[in-house]
Amino acid sequence: MSGIVPWRTDPIRPDEPEPLHLTVDGEPVEGVRGQSIAGVLLAQGRTAWRTTTAGRPRGVFCGIGVCFDCIATVNGESDVRLCLRRACDGDAVETQDDTVPARDDAPKGDRP
Ligand code: FES
Repeated sequence: MSGIVPWRTDPIRPDEPEPLHLTVDGEPVEGVRGQSIAGVLLAQGRTAWRTTTAGRPRGVFCGIGVCFDCIATVNGESDVRLCLRRACDGDAVETQDDTVPARDDAPKGDRP
């Protein structure tokens, strides 16, 4: 049990939330308007969506935009901090695997 409350069963929401739909690596994911993308993923039970150059999984660490652990590609824009990006209907999120060399084969700096 993750302790994360799925939005459909969250007792503190007084009104019917407005759903939105996005994709993560092509898979449809449902959230609610007002959530960050990280919030949508956490509510789905997903805790990691990036792999460091050392092969370690990363998701939310600070939750306030400081650590950059939560980055992913959103609508083609890489290195987006998902804890700061409000989810929009139709967003296409791609997880990032930093173990794979960049397209120009230039070595990437190691992200913690
Ligand atoms: S969780 Fe730290 S920047 Fe997003």
